[in-house]
Amino acid sequence: MLVGELSLLVVLATACEGPESFLDTAGPAAEEIAGLWWIMFALGLGVYAVVMGFVAVPIWRRWRRRRGPPSDERDLIVERRFLGGVIGGSIVILFSLYLVAAPVLVSTSPSGQDHQDITVDVIGRQFWWEVRYPDHDVITANEIHIPAGRTVRFRITSGDVIHAFWIPRLHGKVDMTPGHTTELVVTADEPGHYRGRCTEYCGIAHAQMILHVYAHEPGEFEEWMEELADEPETDGQDEGRAVFASHCAACHTVRGDFPSSPVGPDLSDFALRQKLASGVVDNDRENLRRWILDPHDVKPGAAMPATRLERDDLEALLDYLESLR
Ligand code: CUA
Repeated sequence: MLVGELSLLVVLATACEGPESFLDTAGPAAEEIAGLWWIMFALGLGVYAVVMGFVAVPIWRRWRRRRGPPSDERDLIVERRFLGGVIGGSIVILFSLYLVAAPVLVSTSPSGQDHQDITVDVIGRQFWWEVRYPDHDVITANEIHIPAGRTVRFRITSGDVIHAFWIPRLHGKVDMTPGHTTELVVTADEPGHYRGRCTEYCGIAHAQMILHVYAHEPGEFEEWMEELADEPETDGQDEGRAVFASHCAACHTVRGDFPSSPVGPDLSDFALRQKLASGVVDNDRENLRRWILDPHDVKPGAAMPATRLERDDLEALLDYLESLR
């Protein structure tokens, strides 16, 4: 009992705020889900109190019986009433849960909402996120930019195993299933940074499959998209480009320089990203150096192999990557 109460306190203390708290809602869908959660939580507390009562009553009666004569017939009647109460109570509770949950299921489902301002395709991969903006002809990775206050329709699938897509402050969790597309309609009320993560165990780096979502003012969002859609200016980066060609281009795309290599993340806007290795570390030169030389030190389980490079080649490659914006 004590363990139960302690874990409840821990849940309450940790769940109410923080970048991944579904109770700290930032959009209409998350708000409805959190509202439902509080109702279920209150009901759960009630059930907990009743069950504890059920435990206390027999203890009390056993204690009382010790002091008086046994009364088998009365016990039987009480037990039957007890059982009737448990069955009846359970039916009422489950049915009322259904009654409060059904409208939330309907209103947060994408099928009820035929309007969207933009569409974003997200494809789960071991262990990163491919992000496509079909309206803007942009392919990127691991960071999603959306306009605040606008309706975003996510079309979610997987390129390998089952992952799950969850941005707790914006919406509920959905599976990313290979060969099947699931939709999610999301609105972020305010501009800001929202964190998401993979919530289905998908392999060794599952816990490091982190997603960063940035909601911008609508005008700023269009500027972002234009910047992402532009080909990077890599003039004067010939050395780095040559290193990229021999070590990286088999797996990574750079618009303009190295088209269509579908294995790893598209790097056309690499220098605009805040994070490296699917949200694990900051995108700075030191981390990038570590990542290229030994990805598994930064993120065990990453598919990218370690690259052996001479010092000058490595620095030229870093210059080239840092010019991709
Ligand atoms: Cu992808 Cu867990």
